[in-house]
Amino acid sequence: MKSPVRFAVLVVLAFLAINLPVTCQNTDAGLQNKPWMNRNLAPDERANLVLKEMTLDEKINLVHGQGMEGFGRPVPHSELGNGGAGFVLGVERLGIPIIQMSDAAYGVRQSAVNGRYSTALPSNVGSAASWDPQAACEYGALIGRELRAQGYNMTLGGGVNLTREPRNGRTFEYMGEDPVLAGTLVGNRIRCEQAQHVLGDIKHYAVNDQESGRTEVNVVISHRAMRESDLLAFEIGLEIGQPAGVMCSYNLVNGDYACENKYLLKDVLKGDWKFKGFVLSDWGATHSTEKASAAGLDNEEPFGDLFGDKLKAAVQSGKVSQAELDDHVRRILRSEFAAGIVDNPMRRSVVDVDAEQEIARKLEESSIVLLKNRDNVLPLDRNKVHSIAVIGEHADYGMISGGGSAQVDPPGQAHEWQAQVWFPTSPMKALQAKAPGAKVQFNSGADTSSAAALAKQSDVAIVFVRQWISEGMDLPNLSLPNHQDALIEKVAATNPHTIVVLESGTAVTMPWLDHVSGIVEAWYGGSKGADAVANVLFGDVNPSGKLPMTFPRSIEDLPHSKLSEPPTGLKDPSTEKHPELARATFSVNYDEGLKVGYKWYDAEKKPVLFPFGFGLSYTQFAYSDLKVSSGPSTQVSFLVKNTGTRAGEEVAEVYAALPANAGEPPKRLVGWSKVSLQPGESRQVTVTIPAKYLSIFDEHENAWKLLPGSYNFLVGGSSQDLPLKQDATF
Ligand code: BGC
Repeated sequence: MKSPVRFAVLVVLAFLAINLPVTCQNTDAGLQNKPWMNRNLAPDERANLVLKEMTLDEKINLVHGQGMEGFGRPVPHSELGNGGAGFVLGVERLGIPIIQMSDAAYGVRQSAVNGRYSTALPSNVGSAASWDPQAACEYGALIGRELRAQGYNMTLGGGVNLTREPRNGRTFEYMGEDPVLAGTLVGNRIRCEQAQHVLGDIKHYAVNDQESGRTEVNVVISHRAMRESDLLAFEIGLEIGQPAGVMCSYNLVNGDYACENKYLLKDVLKGDWKFKGFVLSDWGATHSTEKASAAGLDNEEPFGDLFGDKLKAAVQSGKVSQAELDDHVRRILRSEFAAGIVDNPMRRSVVDVDAEQEIARKLEESSIVLLKNRDNVLPLDRNKVHSIAVIGEHADYGMISGGGSAQVDPPGQAHEWQAQVWFPTSPMKALQAKAPGAKVQFNSGADTSSAAALAKQSDVAIVFVRQWISEGMDLPNLSLPNHQDALIEKVAATNPHTIVVLESGTAVTMPWLDHVSGIVEAWYGGSKGADAVANVLFGDVNPSGKLPMTFPRSIEDLPHSKLSEPPTGLKDPSTEKHPELARATFSVNYDEGLKVGYKWYDAEKKPVLFPFGFGLSYTQFAYSDLKVSSGPSTQVSFLVKNTGTRAGEEVAEVYAALPANAGEPPKRLVGWSKVSLQPGESRQVTVTIPAKYLSIFDEHENAWKLLPGSYNFLVGGSSQDLPLKQDATF
């Protein structure tokens, strides 16, 4: 083809790719004059107007999915899907779009298999380590943009189950062990994701805190413990993010499946919290028609086994009222209007890959936690370091990522379920680029002796170690796998300047802690992880992340040293395809109750490796002048000063110890502020604390109560370094 013609054809094709709606929506100009298309009306009003026009079949179509490719059986209307985890038919004649859903925990899933591109952000637990609501917002905005670019209008991201059980294989998908931190960050992520006109989601509701036997475990937990821990994370996330969807989880809670649990769905979510959106089941987590509908499930995913013909028949026979069905439908419709997916029909587009990857790098930089820095081995001085040993499996090629439905594809690389996927972000190349004059050599560590020999001849040895985790599994313990502990020991024995870079999805134990000079927690670093790590190692970025979860000394110190497992071992995933086969076969009793994470170690006086909220910087900060003022809201103010010689950011943390008669763990996080300070600069920080964060949940009165008495406020740079203390009486 001659080049001008070819150019013209390409332009036309590009135009079509970008501008053709991916689903038939809103093409009828007459639709624009329909009363529910009036953008000045409230989402609820618009939903009511459409609802009046809908037939029973159209309503039923909206309350269940059409299936997911690879999830057990053929997908009806598969030509209407977009390659994601599922889709819900729209009502074309009324301008109601198909809901195209995709998993999108740390980026949009299944891009390679669909011939598309997705950016991988740092894992969610890493993003929680930034303690930065603005960073969480950028995280959500990027995912929202890329979802839309790929033709989706709903995310299935937003995981916020608390790290009650750090061996949980999905810990990397969640936001740590504290409900105020996790809830605030997931809320900001969702808020900005939805601003891109995609339906947001928060999951997995609730107390789905382990993967072992997830479809058959009955979680036993008190209402108070739930409301003050796992559910509080959801409550805060919902308040800030206003997501369209809440995904109910696989497990049972106090005897009822989460997706037919009246207490969780009707009493708390839709009752106490006044949630206006819709509840969708996790994939295969619906177990009944009438019970689930009455309990508050609005949408069955991914099929319509129980909310398709069966729900229709139940409505026709009066077993489920028309009003109950209408409530499900109204919630879905109002969410579509509220998030703007009706007014802003989807158009596929091409994202600016370089710009997105720059965001991924910056987000990873704000997530990295410096755990140890003996004798200021870091940052590396490029004028003094002449040779660097880069050691670790694939450290020449890339960095690992978290698996399961959260998995993002590296460009062009589709993968099998639960494959270990390495992103092509090369630590070796990134380090070489930082120190072009240095001799940078790689050793995979497979042979520990040759790795140690290389370390011995190098000025610095940097060992990249990984702990891979995934949905559908839990870890047997928190040790690094594949003899990596032995590798670190051997390298550290030959080189006093050994630095360990952890690529982990949860806490790890560190028998070699005292033998290495530096430890950097990089989590799963995403598309540009290696550049971010190199920037931190060479001091172009001053680390500012803090742990969103405790790193215990040993699994013996966990609330449950032994993980509860189903009698038959981890259930075959086929039960998820055939939920009717799943039954509660065992219980896990969360009798540690309120004592999740640091609250447990504090109360039990167990020393830890690294406490919640801990993280070093290349500068130092001093705290002074604490003032607490109580009134309608509590304000805690204090001064933070950068006393070192570099600019840096400090996460200043505020904890409160409640009056003794509250029966609470020793202290809880009630607020924080991330402040950026030049060398020598001081800043007055004021943190406003909502009354709920100082209250207890009275389960007899089903209400939050601020108890009268003396409260001790504690301020500092980690949950175990709190130099400022002051009492206030309420
Ligand atoms: C996971 C969900 C996910 C869904 C769809 C389920 O197995 O638990 O988190 O959104 O699959 O892929």
